[in-house]
Amino acid sequence: MNFHSSIPAFVILSLVLIACASNPVQTGQGRKLAFDRNKGNCLACHVIADGESPGNIGPPLQALSKRFRDQQQLRDFIYDARQNNPETSMPPFGANHILTDAELQQVVDYLWDLP
Ligand code: HEC
Repeated sequence: MNFHSSIPAFVILSLVLIACASNPVQTGQGRKLAFDRNKGNCLACHVIADGESPGNIGPPLQALSKRFRDQQQLRDFIYDARQNNPETSMPPFGANHILTDAELQQVVDYLWDLP
């Protein structure tokens, strides 16, 4: 192997590894945030996939990609559920800075793919 051919091979391998790794890592992070009692704590009120001991104050979080027009609409709902229902018991996660914008997006990425 000479110098000229080894660099592109390394670059291509790196890109493939990054592409494979980035999506599951993000989804895993969103699940963690949703289940974390000190963060989303969504399980306190919602049944979610394989989450343990969920509450039932809110509806089960399933097939959200069919219930919401797009990820932005889902994100807006979680940002401040009072926009949908002023009397809601769901905390305004974005408006009250419980989740940062980046964390909110990770939760949305996770929820969007749930069946
Ligand atoms: C204290 C209870 C509570 C917590 C905690 C909570 N929610 Fe909710 N959520 C509700 C209620 C109640 C509703 C029903 C609609 C309403 O009253 O606003 C709801 C509705 C929703 C909906 C709309 C579902 C549908 O099919 O229409 C989504 C999406 C949602 N919540 C996401 C979340 C996420 C994500 C978290 C965590 C970051 C969370 N909720 C935490 C109470 C809660």
